Amino acid sequence: MSSKERELPPYTDYTFDMFISSAGKEHAEITQFNQWRREVLDAHMYTFQIPHLGAQRPEVSVERVTGEKFDLVSLASYNYLGYSYHPEVLAAAKAALDTYGLGATGSPVLNGTFLIHEELEQKIIDLFGMPGYGVSLFSSGYGANLGVVSAYAHKGDIVVLDRLSHASLVDGALLSQATIKLFKHNDVDHLDRVLSRLDYNSTRILICTEGIYSADGDAGRIKDIVQVARKYGAKVLADEAHSLLIAGENGRGVSEEQGVLDQVDMIIATFSKSFGGVGGCLYAREEITNYVNWYARARMFSCALDPAVTGGLIKALELAMGPDGQAKRKRIQDNADFLRNKLRGKVDIGDSHSWIIPVIYGDEHLTIPLSDHLQRNGVDASLMSFPAVPKNQSRIRLFVTSEHTEPQLERGAAVILEAADRFGFLQEN
Ligand SMILES: Cc1ncc(COP(=O)(O)O)c(C=O)c1O
Repeated sequence: MSSKERELPPYTDYTFDMFISSAGKEHAEITQFNQWRREVLDAHMYTFQIPHLGAQRPEVSVERVTGEKFDLVSLASYNYLGYSYHPEVLAAAKAALDTYGLGATGSPVLNGTFLIHEELEQKIIDLFGMPGYGVSLFSSGYGANLGVVSAYAHKGDIVVLDRLSHASLVDGALLSQATIKLFKHNDVDHLDRVLSRLDYNSTRILICTEGIYSADGDAGRIKDIVQVARKYGAKVLADEAHSLLIAGENGRGVSEEQGVLDQVDMIIATFSKSFGGVGGCLYAREEITNYVNWYARARMFSCALDPAVTGGLIKALELAMGPDGQAKRKRIQDNADFLRNKLRGKVDIGDSHSWIIPVIYGDEHLTIPLSDHLQRNGVDASLMSFPAVPKNQSRIRLFVTSEHTEPQLERGAAVILEAADRFGFLQEN
């Protein structure tokens, strides 16, 4: 049903892919995008890229261009363990800033590597505790996936992606010029069938999976994938962006939780989530990280990680590897269970067992008014629509942290349930 038939304003008839094809020499798609954006702004419903006025704490304040200011319970930041504002992390970042200055001002392979980068690499090696492994640092998680996949796979090789793979893995595969094959999300039998049709005896194959998938909050079946991969001599990359420092007894991710750390060939971490900073890395056998250090274009042709951030990351990692991390890993899971229990049976929360909880409302036409409604009523939440998720599976994606209190989560749940009632996606029971 179109937005017109539902009597929704025309700007709700929007999907991300509407303005991404070239519309001629005069770039009509840019003009049309700006018209659409103007309409949403004029309707006072533009909730995107709203400046936050302080750190990503469980409660945040934001200010729209209209001057309207909102105090919100945040369920939108992946600052899972609260390290972005932890006093010891900030002190470490400030100390590194004083020693090394603001930026690295150089490519890591040339003159941009500082002693503090090597300290971070060593800390990550210590986290996993496996001899013969190394770390390759990148200035973003996106860059890590882009750089690693495109450095490891070449023309003639094959990259096999889960259909719900993060854009950075997809882009890495495209940049590599390898042949790309897809398997149904987390469907290991389908993966097996896809691999069985390839010339696996003589072709290099890289399978990409993830620790926790960020749209559904479900865990990648890394253990099963590793087994199938071995049958065909394929290598496995696990992107633990949303799971490192959280999943597993020691925070070594879903690969640890599923008992296959030593069987995954490449682990990707992003520092923008549980670490509370920015950047990313590859953890793999040293001969691979040495090679990636040189041949990942996203690393060779981009400035090294900020020294101050690097200092903060080292401290966050130290905390996460000690009692602080143990306590936070328990709290985040308890908090996620608490919020899930408030929502379960009332709205569709899919099959998540993690700290990412989707609330599926379906119709993409609701995205703009719903996002506006949540913000006006006290919740900071990210909404995902087609093509980031399949059609009619739009969702509010909730990120729970170890730092939320139960009253904050209760308040968040109440606003979401009230919105579900108003927008018609409360489940009948
Ligand atoms: C699974 C996954 N991989 C990689 C990234 C990219 O990480 P970053 O935002 O740190 O660049 C993200 C970002 O959200 C992600 O969800």
